[in-house]
Amino acid sequence: MPSVNRLEIKYRCLHPSCCVNCREGYLWMDSDAFNSSLGYNGEKDAFRSPRGICRMGFRQPFKAVKVEVREAARKDAAEGVEQPDLLGDPIAILMNEHRQILKILDRVEEHLRKRDIDALWAATKEIENEVNLHSGRKEEEVVLPVLCEMMPLGEGLVMIIREDHREILSLLYAFRSAMQDGDINDGIIGSMIVSLRGHIRKEDNEFFSLVEKGLDEETKKRLVDGMNKVEREFVREPAGSRTVRTEAQMLAAAQRKAMNEDVLDLKDLTNSGCCH
Ligand SMILES: [Fe+2]
Ligand SMILES: [Fe+2]
Repeated sequence: MPSVNRLEIKYRCLHPSCCVNCREGYLWMDSDAFNSSLGYNGEKDAFRSPRGICRMGFRQPFKAVKVEVREAARKDAAEGVEQPDLLGDPIAILMNEHRQILKILDRVEEHLRKRDIDALWAATKEIENEVNLHSGRKEEEVVLPVLCEMMPLGEGLVMIIREDHREILSLLYAFRSAMQDGDINDGIIGSMIVSLRGHIRKEDNEFFSLVEKGLDEETKKRLVDGMNKVEREFVREPAGSRTVRTEAQMLAAAQRKAMNEDVLDLKDLTNSGCCH
């Protein structure tokens, strides 16, 4: 049996009335699903998107602009990682936490491949906890205010970082909410993984090097002390039960699921409409 790789695909929506917001982007697909739909409608680079990528949920004809095997890329990156000396270096601490978060992402992908919804429920809660602590508390409450003091145009950068954090968490919440209905939404989790990896790359390669240049020893100590303090105070939430909910919540979830399925089946049949 051929091995199945996880692909990161840069796409362009080919639907003539596709709105600007979902016209281009990145998604994740298994190589077998991608290869079997490649050549869709007789076009060489066209394929059919999974449900949930188009913001209305329909499957659309997409052009594959760039395709990368993420599994192999991850292995290369992992081999190249050096363990930083963490003592007293706030940037090394944050970069090391990035490596830990990337490892949890690897596990999430493994669970996705196996369609193990309970393992996904637990692993995505781990990501949520770590992103809340690392990004929400350490970066936003401790590091970013210092950046604003240090750099005249720091506020613009701070806005970009905060915006990324909001996007990642909102995708994570949406994915976990769908799991409560029994759905593993590949579109949403794929977008979350792409956003989080991209964000970490941006911080490691651009943002942190800007901050690092301006740090004297006293500021480094202030940052490390501040990060240690939020670490001590932070309480990680347990994943809890995915399925145990009140009767009213379950009824609403069942109705929502039935309605979504009806709409998607109908749209698949007619293959009409994108975001209009
Ligand atoms: Fe970060
Ligand atoms: Fe961040």
